[in-house]
Amino acid sequence: MHKYEKIWLSLGMASLVLFLVIIFVSAIHNGHAPAASGREFIDPEMVDKKEPFNKPGLHKVEGKDWDYELVFVVSAFNYNPGEVKIPKGSKVKIIATSKDVNHGFEIAHTNVNMMIEPGHISNFVKTFDKKGEYLLLCNEYCGTGHADMKSIIKVVDK
Ligand code: CUA
Repeated sequence: MHKYEKIWLSLGMASLVLFLVIIFVSAIHNGHAPAASGREFIDPEMVDKKEPFNKPGLHKVEGKDWDYELVFVVSAFNYNPGEVKIPKGSKVKIIATSKDVNHGFEIAHTNVNMMIEPGHISNFVKTFDKKGEYLLLCNEYCGTGHADMKSIIKVVDK
């Protein structure tokens, strides 16, 4: 093998190893783990009858790491509830599932972005500390009414 070829080859290998080490070390450092969301299962046809989805909306909880649970039932082509008021500063566990097909669950201008799959329960814990109106929208094509799927999340003074 040509000398330069050897040098370039080893440089390439070294940078590959370096990048893998960086990814590994930063993942350990930041405590990354596979998403805990979506590991719970539910029969999509029983959603309306099963806890907590028989009562969509915001519920105050005691003795947990969050102040409220916000339950969403998602279906073509709407989110239930269609509007929610959250007291500013609340730590909220969002719990959602779909009754039919895959839907998106993105709260614009926040880091909340989930895929909602039938048969699975997705969740995300978020503190809403900025007052305002947030649009919850579907970013997963789900049919003719896809673009109309939305809900409004209002973060209001306590
Ligand atoms: Cu639901 Cu797109």
